[in-house]
Amino acid sequence: MTRRDFINSTSASYAGLLAWGQLLPAPASALNLPANGQRGEGPARRVVILGAGLAGMATAYELGKLGYDCTILEARARAGGRVWTIRGGTGETELGGDAQTCRFDEGNYFNGGAARIPHHHQLTLQYCRELDVPLQIFNGNNEAAYLYNDQPGGTGELANRRLRIKEYHNDMRGYTAELLTKALDQSALDQQLTKEDIEKLVDFLKNEGDLNTAHLYKGTNRRGYKPKAEPGAGVSPGALTDPFGLTDLLRSGFTQPVFYNVGDYIYEQQTTLLQPVGGMDAIPKALAKKLGSKIIFNAPVSELRKTDNGVRVVYQQDGKPTELMAEFCVCTLPLPMLKNLESDLSGTVKRAADFVPYIKTGKIGLQFKRRFWEEDDWIYGGISRTNMDINQIWYPSFGFQGQKGVLIGYYNFYGRAEAVGAMTVTEREKLALTQGVKIHPQYPAEFENSFSLAWHRIPYSGGGWATYDDNTRKKYYPALMEPDGNIYFAGEHTTYLTAWMAGAFTSARRAVESIHARVGEYTQK
Ligand code: PHE
Repeated sequence: MTRRDFINSTSASYAGLLAWGQLLPAPASALNLPANGQRGEGPARRVVILGAGLAGMATAYELGKLGYDCTILEARARAGGRVWTIRGGTGETELGGDAQTCRFDEGNYFNGGAARIPHHHQLTLQYCRELDVPLQIFNGNNEAAYLYNDQPGGTGELANRRLRIKEYHNDMRGYTAELLTKALDQSALDQQLTKEDIEKLVDFLKNEGDLNTAHLYKGTNRRGYKPKAEPGAGVSPGALTDPFGLTDLLRSGFTQPVFYNVGDYIYEQQTTLLQPVGGMDAIPKALAKKLGSKIIFNAPVSELRKTDNGVRVVYQQDGKPTELMAEFCVCTLPLPMLKNLESDLSGTVKRAADFVPYIKTGKIGLQFKRRFWEEDDWIYGGISRTNMDINQIWYPSFGFQGQKGVLIGYYNFYGRAEAVGAMTVTEREKLALTQGVKIHPQYPAEFENSFSLAWHRIPYSGGGWATYDDNTRKKYYPALMEPDGNIYFAGEHTTYLTAWMAGAFTSARRAVESIHARVGEYTQK
């Protein structure tokens, strides 16, 4: 499986890294460093921070606690960067695109960027606690959601039709359990296991696959009941569905990576996942509130210079170049933005900016008149998966049983995101609807309006997140670990937690710790 396939289907390499012992768990506690002022060192040290995303704001927040004088320059009129919640009134114009204004009804929204917090991202959760951001469950894994294998002209029994994840999942579990039990019954594994262990393994398989007393898989209520035949009052215990055939399942295409996310397999997508109540932007909003006038908005940086004793930054304010001097700079700009910056940055940093690839990724929010996925399909949160360009459909994990609702009609990566992102917003909407209708026939009758985004075309972001492979990690990553003169780097791209808010937060702490250690060192001299 290529990395591309892997990302498309599942999740990045965090689990692997943890397993290989290359990652330390994030500290969950507040930083415990002596404050700047307490070192008896005269006026507070000035730090200019580029970017009011989570990395920049967490840096300013922590440095502020230590007595540093921080200013954040933010190109946009809002804080949060790629942590961005789309709701009625949200506007954006992509590079080369048309202006969009979101028309969702009050209370409806989707998270255009960061959208889920794994339970093991303890540092992110620590900031939510500290900033009083209430959380709710993000339901990522939903056995009631659908799989759809689109095979134009395909004849396979399971092609071009939707089926519930629970059907595929439990049939495959059942058959594999049955096959393994048969192998055990035929003593195929006697060399490796004792008789007692084999009996225990058979017990496990009976439960795992829900096999009958003859150790055969004949279907199970784990895959649900026939329509209008759920158990209830009266004489019927409910009508079970028939399992799909093993051969049909194996030839269904569902073993492709794009579908392979059944159950809770993937470390970053295992329950419990969380999200802030009311939208992910509750986190940047809370940070921005703490920082107040330390953030200068609408201030895109155009030059970053090294001086004898620090840095000089030029930014545009009301169309005029404005200068800011500081002792240190923490640069959190995504690398695609660093690429275009006039700067004295070293060759190794510039090469990192030039050559670390960023993922192309996009989402569309679709508002519907009615929550048909809940009312008709009994889907409350979770994700349907398909090999069509839309890749995934996300159902909202909030506002259950409400009237209207917003689905994420596509969430795609790489080539699919590039193709869809290249379309006009009208064409994107059409694509989301014509492909989505194959899974949800209710689409045409219920659709109201949409808002789409392609992160690689969004000004000041220029991509979803950094995507390293072993080679780029070795070649370019080290340059971002060291300060370049008095310029420090932070942001998810400076971590092994790329594509996660936790990356932004850990990188901020790292920058704060290195600056503070350095100040301490030369204070003591
Ligand atoms: N963290 C992002 C998400 O949950 C991006 C991501 C997608 C990361 C897939 C890894 C794998 O969607």
